[in-house]
Formats: sequence, structure tokens, C-alpha cells
Amino acid sequence: EKKFIKAIEVIKVPEDDVIGVDINGLNLAIYNVEGEIFATDNICTHGNAKLCDGFLDGYKIECPLHQGEFDIRSGKACTSPLTEDIKSYPTKVGDDGFIYING
Ligand code: FES
Repeated sequence: EKKFIKAIEVIKVPEDDVIGVDINGLNLAIYNVEGEIFATDNICTHGNAKLCDGFLDGYKIECPLHQGEFDIRSGKACTSPLTEDIKSYPTKVGDDGFIYING
């Protein structure tokens, strides 16, 4: 079983925004949707683009390169040209105000 790893302070991720972080050898996109925190791999499954540079619309992240959309809750690829889902990670926010990622 994987354990939760400490990421960044929740206040570093503005509401309805996404930021990219490197932790434990993982490049992750961390999202805040109305105070709820989600995490996925940051590099698109279709090409070399970072989802943290994309456009977050509700629970959908649109890749900046070819505008493919993933659902950040499940990592599911929702639109073409995506054919492969992206890995998503369970998250929690600790009493210390930090986001923890189950990676
Ligand atoms: Fe993301 Fe093509 S690289 S949709």
C-alpha cells in the first residue's frame, strides 16, 4: 500500500486553479475546485504538455497543446485526441495545512 506524501500548503493552490509540483520524483498537477483538492500526473498522456499550463473548467482540465480534456476526479480521458487516461491520486489536507498525495 502506498503512503501519503507531503506536498505543498493548500493555500498555495488558489481556488479554481491548477499548479504543477515536483514531489518524490513525480511531476503532479494539483487542482483546487471550490476548495476540494485533486491531483493527477502533470504530463499529458497524448504529448509533451503540462496540464498545469492548461485551462481548468470545473472538474475538467483542458490540455494546452491540443485541447484534450481529462476529468481530474478519475483521470479519465474525455475528448479527442486523447486515447489514454491520466493517473489520478487520492489527496487529503492535513491539520498542518499541507496537501498529502497518495502516490
Ligand atoms: Fe495533450 Fe495533445 S498533448 S492533447
